[in-house]
Amino acid sequence: MIIIGIETSCDETSIGIIKDLKILSNIVYTQDMIHKPFGGIVPELASREHLKKILPIFQKALSKADISIKDIDAIGVTNSPGLKGSLIIGVPFAVGLAYSLKKPLYLIDHLYGHIAPNFLERFEFPCLGLVISGGHTSLFYIKNNVDFQLIGRTLDDACGEAFDKVARILTLPYPGGPNLENLALGGNEKKVNFPRPYLPGSLNFSFSGIKTAVFYHVKKQGLKNSADIAASFQKSITDTIIKKMSMALEKYPVKSFVFGGGVIQNQYMRDKIREYFEKRGIRIFIPEKSLCMDNGAMIALFTYFLVKYKIPSSDYVINVIPTKFHSH
Ligand code: KG4
Ligand code: ZN
Repeated sequence: MIIIGIETSCDETSIGIIKDLKILSNIVYTQDMIHKPFGGIVPELASREHLKKILPIFQKALSKADISIKDIDAIGVTNSPGLKGSLIIGVPFAVGLAYSLKKPLYLIDHLYGHIAPNFLERFEFPCLGLVISGGHTSLFYIKNNVDFQLIGRTLDDACGEAFDKVARILTLPYPGGPNLENLALGGNEKKVNFPRPYLPGSLNFSFSGIKTAVFYHVKKQGLKNSADIAASFQKSITDTIIKKMSMALEKYPVKSFVFGGGVIQNQYMRDKIREYFEKRGIRIFIPEKSLCMDNGAMIALFTYFLVKYKIPSSDYVINVIPTKFHSH
C-alpha cells in the first residue's frame, strides 16, 4: 500500500510517500527565508509560495521514493487546521490527484498527523498525546491509532507562539523557537523565576502570562542577561508541561505518553520530559526531530491508519477548515 501525504497548512510545503509503514521520501520546503524579513508568517506570501512549490515538491517526492504516479494507492492531505490561503493550495491539489487516479482521498487533521509518527513504534493503547506547535497546545486521550479525544487545550497563546513572541522580545530573529533554544544553552535557568501557570483542576493550558512576565522583566532590567532569561523561560514552560501531564495522568492513568509538533524538537524539553516520566515508569515517545516539524510523511502515516481501520474516504470535494473554525 503506497500512500502520499500532502501538507500545506502553514509555512512548509511538504509531501511524503510511505509504503506501508516505511517512509520512502519526505520532502519539506520551509519558507523561513520568505517570512524572515517580516518577523512572522505573512499568509498571502505563504499561499503564493505553496502554489509555486507544490508541483516541484511532488515530482521530487516521487523520484526520491522511486515510484511513478500510477503506484499511488491512497492520498492524504491536511485540510484542517491552518491558514486558509495555505490549506487551499494543498487540498485542491490532492483532490485533483485523487480524482484523476480514481484513488481514495482522506482529509486529515494536522494535529492527529503530528502524533502519527509515534505509531511507528509498538506500544499499548490507551495513551495520552500532547501536540505542542506554533498554533496549538492540544492534549488528547488516545484510544487507538485513529480515535482521539481532546481533553485539554490552550486558553490563549499556543506553546510555540509563546516561544516565538518571547524570542521577539529578546530581539532574536525569526523563527524564534530554535534561536531561543540556542541562546538558552549559555544561560542559567535558575536566574529568573517566571510564573508556572498550572491552572489547578483543569487540563487546559495558558502560556500568555509567562510571555507577559518576560516582557515586563525585560522592560525593567533590559536585555543584558538575555541567555539567562531564555533559559529561565524555557524551564518555566517545561515545568508547566510536566506538571500538566502529571495532572492528566492522575485522571487518565495510562502507561505511555506520546508527543508531536514543532516545539518538541527542543532538546532541553525532550530530555527533561523523558527523564521525569521514565523515572516514574511512564513510557515516553517523541518522534525524531525531522518528523516533529510540519511534514508530509506524518500525514501519510495517519492516512495509513485510516485505511487500516476502514474509515470511509472523502468525496472529491474541496473542503478546508481553517484555524478560526477548528475545534481543537
Ligand atoms: O508544528 P510546527 O512546525 O508548525 C505548526 O503547526 O505550528 O511548529 C512550529 C513551532 C514554531 O512556533 C517554532 O518556533 C517552534 O515550533 N519550534 C521550537 C523549536 N523548533 C521549532 N520551539 C522551541 N524550541 C525549538 N527548538
Ligand atoms: Zn504543525
